[in-house]
Amino acid sequence: MAKKISGSQIETLIFAHRGSSGTHPENTMVSFQEALHVGANGIELDVHLTKDGEVVVIHDERVDRTTNGTGFVHEKTLKELKQLDAGSWYSYHHKGETIPTLNEVLEWISNKNLLLNIELKNDIIQYEGLEEKVIQLVHKYDVSESVIISSFNHYSLVKVKQLDKEIETAVLISDILYQPWHYVKSLGASALHCSKSFAFSKMITQAQQQIPIRVFTINDELEMKHILLNCLSALMTDFPSEAVQLKSILK
Ligand code: G3P
Ligand code: MG
Repeated sequence: MAKKISGSQIETLIFAHRGSSGTHPENTMVSFQEALHVGANGIELDVHLTKDGEVVVIHDERVDRTTNGTGFVHEKTLKELKQLDAGSWYSYHHKGETIPTLNEVLEWISNKNLLLNIELKNDIIQYEGLEEKVIQLVHKYDVSESVIISSFNHYSLVKVKQLDKEIETAVLISDILYQPWHYVKSLGASALHCSKSFAFSKMITQAQQQIPIRVFTINDELEMKHILLNCLSALMTDFPSEAVQLKSILK
């Protein structure tokens, strides 16, 4: 698996947001495989816990939007979730795609040259034991060096660092904060993952002098250009192929 570039990083890394989710069904193995295929540096994905305590890769608390099922992820067993079709909603070409487990993704990625941003989706439902299970899996595949754990639930990020001080954490925000680098460091975190709505704000210009800044979700070419030319640490996009091509043109 890829190793993170430390302090002196000058290139903007391209993360495929939910995989190559602009061209394939989000958070599925085909969307991750496509991200690798087009040359993304990393993948971002979202995780929840099932009724029987398995870590699964899906964005919403409910399965309704991205599968042919209905109901909450945490009210279904892994076996029940695996029976759902997670591809047809996007296109009939992807019929039969299933909700991946984090275990499956880590097994696949462990011998690939890809970074992995695992977003803990525990800001709405606070899943008991999610942090422990995710860390256990990261250890199982020995991929700590290429994993970044992020969450909008900052209590959870502190817990992750208490469980394993070596794992990199990143603070997800969707608001302007005053001098956020102080806050980020106070949580033991290393980076800020921020919404594009203020990617070009004074806060980010100042913050990028202090900590790595990764911006989501950048799908517009002009915005991609802006992030690349301003050398922010990473951009997360649903269209990694376009971002990779643009990056090579701007080099
Ligand atoms: O991790 C960055 C981004 O994915 C956060 O928002 O809703 O797309 O998971 P969302
Ligand atoms: Mg996410």
